[in-house]
Amino acid sequence: MEVKAFYWKGHVLQLLDQRELPNKEIWLSLKDYGEVAQAIRDMAVRGAPAIGCVAAYGFVLGVKAGENPEKVYETLKNTRPTAYNLFWALDRMKKAFEEGKDIEAEAKAIEEEDYKANKSMGEIGQALIPVGARVLTHCNTGALATAGWGTALGVIRSAHYAGKNIFVWVDETRPYLQGSRLTAWELLKEGIPHKLITDSTAGFLMKKGLVDCILVGADRITKDYHVANKIGTYALSVLAKAHGIPFYVVAPKSTFDPYTTGDGIVIEERSEKEIKFIRGIPIAPEDSPALHIAFDITPPENITAIITEEGIIKL
Ligand code: MRU
Repeated sequence: MEVKAFYWKGHVLQLLDQRELPNKEIWLSLKDYGEVAQAIRDMAVRGAPAIGCVAAYGFVLGVKAGENPEKVYETLKNTRPTAYNLFWALDRMKKAFEEGKDIEAEAKAIEEEDYKANKSMGEIGQALIPVGARVLTHCNTGALATAGWGTALGVIRSAHYAGKNIFVWVDETRPYLQGSRLTAWELLKEGIPHKLITDSTAGFLMKKGLVDCILVGADRITKDYHVANKIGTYALSVLAKAHGIPFYVVAPKSTFDPYTTGDGIVIEERSEKEIKFIRGIPIAPEDSPALHIAFDITPPENITAIITEEGIIKL
């Protein structure tokens, strides 16, 4: 059984609460658009393509309940600022509504297209992965972050099933721990060989020649090919360049923002509590302030290529 982050059930959106993984598998039943907005804001669901899909279903819930479509659109749009897929999906839903289309069918199409794009990126991307490669990945870009299969983790999945005999280094990805809680959980379920590392271990592994390539996802790719992704991605790209290691970004076209350049990306800042506490347990002095920047920006000169469902963009 493939991992799924959400299921549309007609009048309810079922969502796997990613805050509880890997300890508990709790499914939330979201019945109105406000609950969907809250789930995105609180990161019960996360990952750019998954946020887009879920927001589209949130739009359906709101509009079908007779709410003002503009208000529904704005509320869902204002949940998280960086992932372009969120705005792309909501703009598409709003347009479908204005054109009198079946909005439920439109949301389903967004989900289906994302799954297909992931499978396609998996096939295209796995061809770049050498047999026996030790791949390093950051954050979670798998089935949990998308409509299924995944972007960077989708390429890893496809390489594994193509018999490439790969091994994965999983950055734990502080502070939300998408790597240790989510990516490791997905890899373990499918028996893909991997080992968890702290984020600060990556550079030394590269120096020791233990990393053959790096695969990451993206939250937004601007028209000048700057890539916003989980905090820590930029540092990895600098290290990859210093050690001559290929650095690949894997993302569908719905992540490409045709209007913005690298310096125009809004980077989300989240609560310092997410750094100073883990599951309610303090891990820092209460009075020390903390800075929680959730994403960074990697410039095109640090990227070997971007893998999309339509092909490879060499940079
Ligand atoms: O804060 P998150 O967990 O939503 O951040 C997710 C990422 O940074 C992913 O790398 C990105 O969304 C691509 S997911 C296919």
